[in-house]
Amino acid sequence: MRAVLPYDPRQPASTPRIGELPDPVVGRDEVLIQVRATALNRADLLQLRGLYPPPPGESEVPGLECAGDVVAVGSSVEGWSVGDRVMALLAGGGQAERVACPAGQLMPIPPQLSYTDGAALPEAALTAWTNLVVEGHLENGKSVLITGATSGIGTFAVQLARCCGAEVVAAGRSLERLDLLRTLGATHCVVLADGMPEAVRNATEGRGADVAMDLVGGRWLPATLASLADGGRLILVGLMAGRRAELDLGEVLRRRLTLRGSVLRSRSRHEKRELVAGFRAFADERLADGSLMPVVDHVAPFDRIAAAYQHMADGSQLGKIVIEF
Ligand SMILES: NC(=O)c1ccc[n+]([C@@H]2O[C@H](COP(=O)([O-])OP(=O)(O)OC[C@H]3O[C@@H](n4cnc5c(N)ncnc54)[C@H](OP(=O)(O)O)[C@@H]3O)[C@@H](O)[C@H]2O)c1
Repeated sequence: MRAVLPYDPRQPASTPRIGELPDPVVGRDEVLIQVRATALNRADLLQLRGLYPPPPGESEVPGLECAGDVVAVGSSVEGWSVGDRVMALLAGGGQAERVACPAGQLMPIPPQLSYTDGAALPEAALTAWTNLVVEGHLENGKSVLITGATSGIGTFAVQLARCCGAEVVAAGRSLERLDLLRTLGATHCVVLADGMPEAVRNATEGRGADVAMDLVGGRWLPATLASLADGGRLILVGLMAGRRAELDLGEVLRRRLTLRGSVLRSRSRHEKRELVAGFRAFADERLADGSLMPVVDHVAPFDRIAAAYQHMADGSQLGKIVIEF
């Protein structure tokens, strides 16, 4: 099969190399997917340089999500059959013509969605679900600040938070780029700046946000923390603005704030199965009726994947970058 080749320390690459690999072997609790589309994630840029290896035992081919057709089913798999149209959350292997995926990480593609839409969903959907609902305890009537809201993850998180009944404040570096988020359910848009806490309080009747899903971290972490209501929870999910920040720990103590880090890829297959089941119970109907939709910025054919990686590295996309086979 054609695939993006795994990282090779003898041939360090700054662009993905396409080559031939043997088809994956399907385990007892896995299905084999003929991949029709896959989507890019920032982690792929690191993996290409050997900086973000897959969890032990998982495919070394990059690719954290895909959509396609089931072409083989492991002996202990129930509920999935050859021919099913599926989208899959992967620990790796999506940037290839075929991938083996644990059955617990599959979701059906709603009939009105294409493979391209399906490929853009799993990573954004499960990252948003895990951090807003499971870690963030977001629920009806609460408020949430989402930083980096124009990202692939952010554009889905805004919709999911709205579906939970939350008041959504979307933050990013440019108000113009944030405009789209209003159509996705954000009630307020604020700029990442030192004045962000005041803008968030103005948007939340003076309280601050109950939950923050932070996709940028770095120099904006203090402002995001200061945007929380007393007793609020900040879930740190991404580090687009950098790995280092200086915090006033007195504020964390005094205002009983929670700061929690979270990563999806390294979670066990068991945890992922539970997360996918929880997400599906909430979202299957909402995906089917269009209340939740992936935001796709750009679609490219597999043989142009190097240019698509470059587009992601440039950072000007608004939503997901999808690769079609
Ligand atoms: N922890 C997890 O489990 C997990 C899972 C998936 C992704 N992530 C992380 O989540 C983040 C978003 O991922 P993605 O794939 O959705 O990203 P993406 O679509 O590539 O979008 C990145 C966004 O970040 C903003 N940005 C870029 N550079 C920035 C900077 N220096 N400071 C502030 N904002 C900046 C840009 O928005 P504007 O230009 O509009 O401001 C852009 O829309 C990444 O850090 C990724 O690694 C974490």
